[in-house]
Amino acid sequence: MSRSARLVPAAAGLLALALTGTACGGGVHGTPGGSGVRDPYFPKAGNGGYDVTHYALTLDYTPGSRHLTGKAVITARATKDLTAFDLDLAGLDVDSVTVEGKDARWNRTGQELTVRPHDDLGKGETFRTTVRYSGTPQTLTDPDGSEEGWLRTADGALGLGEPVGSMAWFPGNHHPSDKATYDITVTVPKDLQAVSNGELTSRHTQGGRTSYAWHSAQPMASYLATVAIGHYDITSTTGPHGLPVLTAVDPTQAKASAKVLAKIPGILAWEELNFGPYPFTSSGVIVDRPDDVDYALETQTRPVFPGAPETGTLVHELAHQWYGDSVTPKSWQDMWLNEGFATYAEWLYEEDHGGKSAQQTFTDLYEDDDEAVWAFPPAKPSGAAHISDSPVYERGAMVLHKIRQKVGDDTFYDIIQGWAAAHRHGTASTADFTAYVEKKVPDKDFAGIWKDWLYGDGRPDHP
Ligand code: TRP
Ligand code: ZN
Repeated sequence: MSRSARLVPAAAGLLALALTGTACGGGVHGTPGGSGVRDPYFPKAGNGGYDVTHYALTLDYTPGSRHLTGKAVITARATKDLTAFDLDLAGLDVDSVTVEGKDARWNRTGQELTVRPHDDLGKGETFRTTVRYSGTPQTLTDPDGSEEGWLRTADGALGLGEPVGSMAWFPGNHHPSDKATYDITVTVPKDLQAVSNGELTSRHTQGGRTSYAWHSAQPMASYLATVAIGHYDITSTTGPHGLPVLTAVDPTQAKASAKVLAKIPGILAWEELNFGPYPFTSSGVIVDRPDDVDYALETQTRPVFPGAPETGTLVHELAHQWYGDSVTPKSWQDMWLNEGFATYAEWLYEEDHGGKSAQQTFTDLYEDDDEAVWAFPPAKPSGAAHISDSPVYERGAMVLHKIRQKVGDDTFYDIIQGWAAAHRHGTASTADFTAYVEKKVPDKDFAGIWKDWLYGDGRPDHP
């Protein structure tokens, strides 16, 4: 499906408004919540009028038939008086919706599931919405042509959600600005396993099916949620301070992965030294064989790799746990705060492990005539199809290197650790970052770096 087919036309939003109306009875003068949060790149992603605090997802999946049955219990707080609100859901059939235990009216247009509760919701009210749904979850195609959503794997399925794929397998407020805690319970045929984010809290088999319950106690953006279903070699080890590390590896990838995955505790220890305390209560990886996907993704606590990873990619996805997962971009425009940092982590790791210095990597990139690096400024990607292009990654890392050149190593590490600490488990924008750096180092002028490296078009005149 093309990107345009996935986006709701403006007219559909108006229709949803017309259907839900505006009720001003009962003392609550509410309005509908809004079908997006005006993300500059994904305007229909997320919804207005409420904040989700917790998702309890109960999924049942059979790879043979590709049938999913789901129940999503979404706890949220109204941020204004509401007569109706939207959830994002792509494909699947909605079987019922209740709000606070009472049947709610609902309708669907494109990815918007508009819910009109029996009783209006007051600003500040915490309310629980239960959506029961079923069907065959879809694979979605990103604006850049890559596949996400619900993917088939060699022996099961995999849910991947950056930037908007999680709506293919559960209804929610699918924008990084609204983080929540999660309980994800997945039931599969008993010869298969189901792995997700966080910690496994229970597993039981009944009537030929096994249920795995996973708990994420720290807030997570929905694009970082994952479910992996199939056969896995599962290993539990520990990282720094006894941190539980769980790796789930497709058996065909086990041999090729063993050596690199043994580096996880060491990489986490090195990253703690450089970035500060690890932000979550467990770690690990999922190594799988998804159809038509060749990218890794920093799914929270347990990044996903499409086959045995290289060391650099492992360093990159684990660095995202600090930069992206704990400190999450406020909008998709701020993507360089994820990818610039994770790329710079690779440069630093190489520098500290007998490879090229970060300065050398920077110089090579600057001198190499690769036009792609200079196609647009890191803080202003040229479109939704370009949020994972080279300027976001490499030139984003170059911004950090410019800061390091200006302030020296001690202050630089203070900045990147302090940034992770200041927005731990939260969200942040590019403007938050530049303000943070300026406040931290008041005696230096960063205006030139922001102007030339972060926001400027083309290759800056001086390296
Ligand atoms: N974030 C992934 C990484 O660590 C790359 C990626 C996968 C991505 N899917 C994406 C980036 C969608 C942007 C949009 O490099
Ligand atoms: Zn990345």
